[in-house]
Amino acid sequence: MMKSIFFGIVALMFAAVVMNQEQASVLAEGSTSGSAGGPDITKWKKMDDSCTNKLHEQIKKEFDASIFYLQYAAYFANYKVNLPGFEKFFFDAASEERQHGMKLIEYALMRGQNPIDYNRFSLTNAAKKLETEPSTKTSTPALKALEQALEREQIVTSSIRDVIKACENETNDYHLVDYLTGEFLEEQHQGQRDLAGKIAMLKKMLKTNPHLGDFIFDKQNM
Ligand SMILES: [Fe+2]
Repeated sequence: MMKSIFFGIVALMFAAVVMNQEQASVLAEGSTSGSAGGPDITKWKKMDDSCTNKLHEQIKKEFDASIFYLQYAAYFANYKVNLPGFEKFFFDAASEERQHGMKLIEYALMRGQNPIDYNRFSLTNAAKKLETEPSTKTSTPALKALEQALEREQIVTSSIRDVIKACENETNDYHLVDYLTGEFLEEQHQGQRDLAGKIAMLKKMLKTNPHLGDFIFDKQNM
């Protein structure tokens, strides 16, 4: 009995080692161009290094933005703050950013790239402290949150433009540039306009009613 358990364990360990090696060789495949004498079947996935590096950075930024909005969503959901409109707005924004990150991962995979470093994927800006100081006559946590969101979107927009620049420079990666320009930049511009409008409106409301501005805005505009 003990003997068969021992052999069973050895067999499982052996299988695990073989599978690991196979996985490593699958991931390494493509770094060489074609087998000896055979056709080069790796051309389809060639992308400029500076372009893919920028794309990888952008993936991180999307997930960073998602966590950033999640922090605000949780802040507005807290029973002491309790602004359900802002809570929903930021939960939705967090989901959208996560979707963007997923879309770019899927795009990179379609192009035969490894979109993330499996062992070293880490977010960089997510831990940025929220600005939620107590309300003053002209500013409230809700207004600060919208301003922070617009600032974040501006950073993301300029970073998408950097990816576009890197990808059109050397290799003219038309497809990726078109995808980013048509789908991502379009959404960025609309989102920025929406936030700018909300900020302007909330500022006006706070001027006329500094105590109820956030509450009314949350009910009517979020
Ligand atoms: Fe995004």
